[in-house]
Amino acid sequence: MTKDEARKRIEELSEVIDNHNYKYYVLAQPSISDYDFDMLMNELIALEKEFPELALPTSPTQRVGGDLTKEFPTVKHRYPMLSLANSYNRDEIIDFIKRIEKTIDEPVEFVCELKFDGVSISLTYEHGILIRAVTRGDGTQGDEVTANIKTIHSVPLKLHGDYPDFLEMRGEVIMPHDSFNKINAERDELGLPLFANPRNATAGTIKLQDSREAASRRLDNYCYYMMMDNLPYQTHYQSLMAAKEWGFNISQHMRVCRNIDEIEDFINYWDEKRRNLPFDIDGIVIKVNSFAQREVLGITAKSPRWAIAYKFKAEQVSTKLLSVDFQVGRHGTITPVANLEPVLLAGTTVKRATLNNADFIKQLDLHYDDIVKVEKGGEIIPKIVGIDLEKRKKDSKPVEFITKCPECGSSLIQNEGEAAWYCPNSMGCPPQIKGRIEHFISRKAMNIESLGEGKIEVIFDNHLINNYADLYDLTYDKLYGLEKTETFIDETSLFPETVTRKVSFKEKTVNNILNSLIKSREVPFARVLYALGIREIGETTAKILANEMGSIDNLINASLEELTAINTIGPTIAQSIRDFFDDERNIEIINRLKAAGLQFSQEKKATSSENQVLAGKTIVVSGVFANFSRDGIKQKIEDLGGKNAASISSKTDFVVAGEKMGPEKRKKAEALGIKMLTEEEFIEMINK
Ligand code: IVH
Repeated sequence: MTKDEARKRIEELSEVIDNHNYKYYVLAQPSISDYDFDMLMNELIALEKEFPELALPTSPTQRVGGDLTKEFPTVKHRYPMLSLANSYNRDEIIDFIKRIEKTIDEPVEFVCELKFDGVSISLTYEHGILIRAVTRGDGTQGDEVTANIKTIHSVPLKLHGDYPDFLEMRGEVIMPHDSFNKINAERDELGLPLFANPRNATAGTIKLQDSREAASRRLDNYCYYMMMDNLPYQTHYQSLMAAKEWGFNISQHMRVCRNIDEIEDFINYWDEKRRNLPFDIDGIVIKVNSFAQREVLGITAKSPRWAIAYKFKAEQVSTKLLSVDFQVGRHGTITPVANLEPVLLAGTTVKRATLNNADFIKQLDLHYDDIVKVEKGGEIIPKIVGIDLEKRKKDSKPVEFITKCPECGSSLIQNEGEAAWYCPNSMGCPPQIKGRIEHFISRKAMNIESLGEGKIEVIFDNHLINNYADLYDLTYDKLYGLEKTETFIDETSLFPETVTRKVSFKEKTVNNILNSLIKSREVPFARVLYALGIREIGETTAKILANEMGSIDNLINASLEELTAINTIGPTIAQSIRDFFDDERNIEIINRLKAAGLQFSQEKKATSSENQVLAGKTIVVSGVFANFSRDGIKQKIEDLGGKNAASISSKTDFVVAGEKMGPEKRKKAEALGIKMLTEEEFIEMINK
């Protein structure tokens, strides 16, 4: 083929593929078989490989990915990316409409849209070509993630028709349920942590460094907001219809409403029908249709006055309680878990639900065979929120909490004032031993990647390890040839089946394990301390202790008084530290780890900030913030001497309430009379 012929064919193929792509992914009206589509794509890939200089900048081959991004550059938004005020009931929407009617004394039309539960994105087109895709970030600036976004088939790389020279489209990147389920099944197979929900999986995928990997994750996109100077349309609806013509994926589930009843109908319809959608929505967005009216209404600091989000209540389904398992955690805590008759909830099959502790079971007055109401609040493990007492069988037995450890038979104990029951046999109970070792090797602790959960199990079952110090006595000869056949239930399938897989240690596996153990000797003291798995010592406390104490020997010798003198260390944590080091068996293990060459000291760091305005304050942060990332605001609190707590209790001094603060948390804070600060008030406080 001559160069000219190649150029012609490349242009022709790009055009044809682009068009099929649009028909398939945007219009959902495929006009060619998958096989024929792949053939065209393969032909284009081959031609572009032979004549790389002829590949078009908007070639559909970019959808398969390939570009690697080391760091995502920060880009300032041309128009700030605002968020929406939330509402939870009819009255709040009526208030919203009344506020608008106070300002606008002519009829107001609203457009109701689905509120896609994903990650918002800004897409910039110049002369019809996608030149940049940027995440929301803090609303003022975000991360440029163009290479990954180009892999999404419903995002046009090139517009068609009568598009403007400059255009910014805002929309949501989402992960459909089938992609989400597939990815989690694969991750489960590989022993990787599962994504809690499609939104988290989307956020993770958008920030992948390898766009080929992003392409394989099958994200989707819907656009819902057009931005440009001097918009040539009168209404939002018109602008979206034009965008659809140019190639954008605009949801067909939109409706122009003229009053609260029509709005409510739309909400009720989708509250029910959202179960049939192939992706998650978490509410409905209600927007003023007319751009002129929007202009008059204006915006507040964070959100426009012309739009509001209505958030759905968490989804609930009823199903039957089949049995209860009692799981033993690494600290010996017994967690009851309900096994349920499989049921579809928010797009995934639910078979298990957490039952928290003995008190929770008692409060529910749970009986076997009960029909229970299950709710899912965006996390993997759903919870039981109630029982249908009318459907309870007469002779059903109440669920009794166990008195003996299901794994080692020890009598369970309860600490005063705590709801949890424990197995006290910490050194002899298999799941506790394995759990501690698994924590030790985990990413945030010693990060011994090559020893995933499955492998620890094999080594433990072969009696080669009984604690984490034993890891450092492993040798090539001990590990080589270890084998185990695992039988497990494939939980990811709708009809769970038993699957058998063989794990065997070959040369490469063994060398990887030994090398990563050697490498773990460089892990700094704070992380080693965290890896020891002392009850109550999370990553942050371990950092503080390492910094304050400087060495493990100082920590071992510290009295309760010395420990509680450290800012943020309360009596419970101090006691837990003492209990750990007062146990001779732990000291022996630490001595062996020292001999293995692990880091047990560090230089004392100067306090990162002279300003300690938050000293002694226990603070809960909730929601998202305009000026900080979540980790960023927590770090700030620590730097200023404050303590971060995960949940609201009477000990909380105040809550920093960001955007999208959970309604449960808000209720709890209000019930306990805990002060709530907005982000601005918090900033003001720390700058004093
Ligand atoms: S409009 C200024 N429309 O919800 C208004 N947002 O809680 C811009 N979202 O950040 C947003 N579906 O990520 C709009 N149909 C929709 C939406 C939507 C989902 C997200 C978006 C926004 C968040 C606000």
